[in-house]
Order: sequence, then structure tokens, then C-alpha cells
Amino acid sequence: MTHQQRTFAAEASRLPSKREHGVGKCVMSRRNFLLSSGAATAVVMVAASSGSAQQIPGVVATYPRKLIGKLSALKTDEPVGFEYPDEGAFARSVLIKLGREAGGGIGPQKDVVAFNNTCTHQGGELAGTYKADTKSLGACPLHLSTYDLTRHGILISGQAYQSLPQVLLELEGDDIYAVGVFGLIYGRFDNLQG
Ligand code: FES
Repeated sequence: MTHQQRTFAAEASRLPSKREHGVGKCVMSRRNFLLSSGAATAVVMVAASSGSAQQIPGVVATYPRKLIGKLSALKTDEPVGFEYPDEGAFARSVLIKLGREAGGGIGPQKDVVAFNNTCTHQGGELAGTYKADTKSLGACPLHLSTYDLTRHGILISGQAYQSLPQVLLELEGDDIYAVGVFGLIYGRFDNLQG
């Protein structure tokens, strides 16, 4: 292990975990989230372009677990609406069994995902825009942004420049829980309002 790797490992080991804090925030890079299949683990990314170690943290806000559905009740390509992390503005979200493995997906096929339903561009309502053939949400009725639900809500096309916030899920038996949100919900300075 190089000196840089030892320094990185030491920094990562000091970061708080979601389990340690329960409710709150932990630091996490988007890259490692994309690699971790939805687990909200504290990590730091090292940028190598300058030749020196550099921390580039992202922020995952985590919340008390909320039961949002039953795995056995989901049907492929039939979205189910719910509100998370609260019932305030722009909290509307959608739970979908894609029938295809997806980033952050849960269940035996890793195909059950959830996303906030508000377009990150200017707040267009995305409910009812799910496309089963492309596993996407959109096009947004305002300016046509479309998001790939198999790849953490990354933008496929349109005016937005941020991915759709993904609701982090946990499975316990047949129960599906929402446990956090990756990304900032449109219209909020902080996902945890009030
Ligand atoms: S509000 Fe959705 S693309 Fe502009």
C-alpha cells in the first residue's frame, strides 16, 4: 500500500457511517455510490489528475426508515407512488420494478428502484411519464428531459443537467423501506426541510 493509499484509508475510516448516526448526513462520492449498489457508506474519492490526493465529497442525506411497499405486490413496469422524505413540496416519488437489473436496485433481481418525481430542471411533474421499453422517466412535459432509471436517474436527453434524485431502498423480508435520498430534490436547499 502506498503512502497515498494509507492516507486515504485512514481518512475514510474516520468518516461517520449511517449506522453510527441513524438520522443525519454522511459523506459519500457519487462514483462510489454508483459502485456500491445503493449502500450509503462513507467514502472519499481521490482525484489523480494533479498527481496529489484530493477529497471530493458528495452528500447523501439519510432519514428514518419509511415502509413504502411490499416486494410481492409489485408488478413489473407498474409504478407505485409514494411521498418521501416527508409530505412537503416536491416529495412525490415513484417505486418501480423494472424487470431489469439497475443501479441501486433491490430484490432478487436487483431491479426495484425508486426516484423522486420532480424534474431537476425547473420542477416539471414526471408522474405518469414512465416508459417501460427504455426503463426511463420522461419526457418531462415542460422541456422534455428524460432520465434513465437503470443508471441512477442519469439524464438521457433534455434541458436538465442533474440526475433525478434516487430514493435509497432497503429490503427486509417482503417489506421495502425508503432510507434516504441521493441527490438534492428540486426546490429544496436541504432535503430535510423543517
Ligand atoms: S422542467 Fe423538466 S425539462 Fe424543464
